[in-house]
Amino acid sequence: MNEMAENNAILKVENLELSFGGVQALKGVCLDVKQHELLAIIGPNGAGKTSFMNCVNAFYHPQEGRVFFEGRDITNLRPDQISRLGVSRTFQNIQLFVGLSVVDNLMAARHFKMNYNWLEGAFYFGRARRAEVENRRIVEDIIDLLELEPVRKQVVETIPYGLRKRVDLARALVQDPKLLLLDEPMAGMNAEEKEDMARFIIDVYELWGISAVLVEHDMSVVMDIADRIAVLDFGREIAVGTPEEIKGNPKVIEAYLGKAAE
Ligand SMILES: Nc1ncnc2c1ncn2[C@@H]1O[C@H](COP(=O)(O)OP(=O)(O)O)[C@@H](O)[C@H]1O
Ligand SMILES: [Mg+2]
Repeated sequence: MNEMAENNAILKVENLELSFGGVQALKGVCLDVKQHELLAIIGPNGAGKTSFMNCVNAFYHPQEGRVFFEGRDITNLRPDQISRLGVSRTFQNIQLFVGLSVVDNLMAARHFKMNYNWLEGAFYFGRARRAEVENRRIVEDIIDLLELEPVRKQVVETIPYGLRKRVDLARALVQDPKLLLLDEPMAGMNAEEKEDMARFIIDVYELWGISAVLVEHDMSVVMDIADRIAVLDFGREIAVGTPEEIKGNPKVIEAYLGKAAE
């Protein structure tokens, strides 16, 4: 890669090594995500895709390797610090407050981003109040964008799974991300829900000009919306390229596409 392209990376991951006891989840993974790029990561179950995301947002700390976000070394930061720098994610297993309404979940996520606490509320009433108006506005914008209006007041545990995944995306978006990490945002969805989700992801990506890493098993979606695809197999990166390049790569066909039919 030339220097221009390298400088253009919003996320740069160098030589990640991550083990759990005898299991090596990541073996020397190097990847970057350019500004306004949608990079998909594919690979069989257990290939290390979620582990990769966990290393980026510091849920896991790799034994070796470094993670750079906008040129800054974030390897040793905490997840909350990384989130405030502008990295948001959705989860393979949705992480929402199931007893709260949709809108309250989004407000909570927004408060987390703002690092907003009761002391601030007590001492800086004016500022806190203005911030609150702004928080509401952002939450309302995202509710509109993701068409969540009909369920805004509903408690999360009472809404269908496909919509919950959409709320999880909304939760990531209210935090104003520059980089979105999407871990199987369409898993378990029916065809129509998948189509909606793909449309929302593309809308956000195009409207906001953000960058994204998408882990997804549905190859038609990946081929359709990814700028580039990286393939992991047993913790190793076996190929990176455009959808066209990946489609024709024999290593990929063997490692992934062959098994995808099962
Ligand atoms: N917290 C953990 N403790 C032990 N092993 C883990 C943990 N997280 C992931 N692994 C192991 O690391 C490997 C990669 O897992 P994962 O990143 O979840 O794969 P993927 O998301 O591609 O399905 C698997 O063998 C998995 O069992
Ligand atoms: Mg996973």
